[in-house]
Amino acid sequence: MCGIVGILGQQDVASSLVDALKRLEYRGYDSAGIATVNAGALDRRRAEGKLRNLEEKLKLTPLHGTSGIGHTRWATHGRPVERNAHPHATDRVSVVHNGIIENFRELREELEATGVVFESDTDTEVVAQLLTQTLGHINDPVKAVEAVLPRLRGAFALGMLFAGEDDLLIGARQGAPLAIGYGEGEMYLGSDALALAPFTDQISYLDDGDWVVLTRKGASIFDAANKPVKRAKVHSAAGAYSIDKGNHRHFMMKEIHEQPEVVGRTLAHYLDMRQGEVALPDGCKVDFSQVDRLTIAACGTAFYSGLVAKYWFERFARLNVDIDIASEFRYREAPLTDKGLALFISQSGETADTLAALRYAKAEGLKVLAVVNVPTSTIARESDYQAPTLAGPEIGVASTKAFTCQMTVLACLAIAAGRQRGVLSREDEKRLIGELMAVPALMAQALKQAGAVKKLAHDLSRVKDVLFLGRGTSYPMALEGALKLKELSYIHAEGYAAGELKHGPIALIDEDMPVIVIAPRDNIYEKTISNMHEVAARGGRIILITDQQGIEEADMPDAATIAMQAMPSDFAAIVYAVPIQFLSYYAAVALGTDVDQPRNLAKSVTVE
Ligand code: AGP
Repeated sequence: MCGIVGILGQQDVASSLVDALKRLEYRGYDSAGIATVNAGALDRRRAEGKLRNLEEKLKLTPLHGTSGIGHTRWATHGRPVERNAHPHATDRVSVVHNGIIENFRELREELEATGVVFESDTDTEVVAQLLTQTLGHINDPVKAVEAVLPRLRGAFALGMLFAGEDDLLIGARQGAPLAIGYGEGEMYLGSDALALAPFTDQISYLDDGDWVVLTRKGASIFDAANKPVKRAKVHSAAGAYSIDKGNHRHFMMKEIHEQPEVVGRTLAHYLDMRQGEVALPDGCKVDFSQVDRLTIAACGTAFYSGLVAKYWFERFARLNVDIDIASEFRYREAPLTDKGLALFISQSGETADTLAALRYAKAEGLKVLAVVNVPTSTIARESDYQAPTLAGPEIGVASTKAFTCQMTVLACLAIAAGRQRGVLSREDEKRLIGELMAVPALMAQALKQAGAVKKLAHDLSRVKDVLFLGRGTSYPMALEGALKLKELSYIHAEGYAAGELKHGPIALIDEDMPVIVIAPRDNIYEKTISNMHEVAARGGRIILITDQQGIEEADMPDAATIAMQAMPSDFAAIVYAVPIQFLSYYAAVALGTDVDQPRNLAKSVTVE
């Protein structure tokens, strides 16, 4: 996902633009650039690769001007080279863009037919060229933007600067997030509050279709029908979260270590510790007694937290659950019952497929509950109920603390549903809550396994293929383990239900294929162990993740093991996420991949 920032400042803005872009690095990118209006003329610097390359360029050829825009690019159209980096500009306008202009090809052909020569392969450049052409006959930037926006189709957020206008910055939002920041005689534009945190904590979020004209005096916001509108000015807490790595080498390791604290903080938000019961917070007062079916949709790691929760809603609340990845659900035209509840899970709250799935469910008349980590995100704001994860900003592209907080929230929701539906006794509720309250301490214990896991991960970093196995709630954990290893170390990995091994995948087993078995001691532990013996009998290399008693019962002296604390199995999935995260982290470090921003990945995928 690209990052956008804009500043109307009181002094040269180049260094502030770069600082803001650094707070957007977590979104993933492959080039960057800034532009300013300097003595009436537009000027820009762009660079391939990381922001340090842009900083080097700015040291050699500084950029002056008190109004500017900046961009980190995650390539959608056109290779990640300098000429495709934003801002895209003509002599009259400079544009930064997050998202996709779906009709850019027809616009480009139309412009080329009038003699326009493009310098890049991007969809974004058509906006700069179209605005320039429009300015040729409407010599007014605001009116030119008003005329051009309706011609653009797709999901995008834009920031626009104009030659000769050093007190004007125009932004537009259609499907990709965009926020306005209010300063002292300064105004700001950004993809999220995190980018603007160094300048202000007074933020307004544009709604879909809004566009905004900024001067140093303030903001004039218009809706899609060009009617003036007001958007609430809110206090942003983004600045309160440090986005440094502390004493960790990577954000991911810092965020793995934050899990006991943020899972505990999230639990406290959903539990009445004194009564030993779930107390759903304001904004999340769902009445599950009126719900006959739960439909869950999400992407990636968030989807796996939903897959774990399916077991919990079915077991504790006796509630039918359908779950699908959002990119499939949104086109499947699933028949939804009007007594159903739709549940969407998203760390960023901006994932395009999940948002589209949410809008499908709403159009079908369902109430929508969103489990999100960004309470001001689009998914949160379009939901009927919001269940926040209190993980704090997650900077590493690989989701860790948000994932375990998602499972924590979902566990609380499943228990609340059980009680409201009259199928979970008070003592069972108390027992389950007692188990949940023990999870932060168990995660803190699991963090101490880092050294033991690091050695196993180094061995893992030398193989080409890995299999993860699990049953019950450990099956989604096997899928998550495989995703983590793939996205961080680029090693091919697959997650499988352990019981499914003999229906094909066992053909893969040989001494070159490590098999990671996730097996907290539960009522199907013996079944998983017998699957493990099937693997060993064919020379497979086993890494068994269970507790000490489980290791003894497995009776497999050749297996490598990660010994976890003994714990009830109901919520073991939350704790077992820690060794899984360590395995992929240390394999990636051993291989020297970019742990916090793995190749080709973005933190939030706001395009289809
Ligand atoms: C997680 O490690 C991945 N980076 C990715 O699968 C992520 O979970 C997915 O893109 C969903 O993002 P969201 O939670 O922001 O919607």
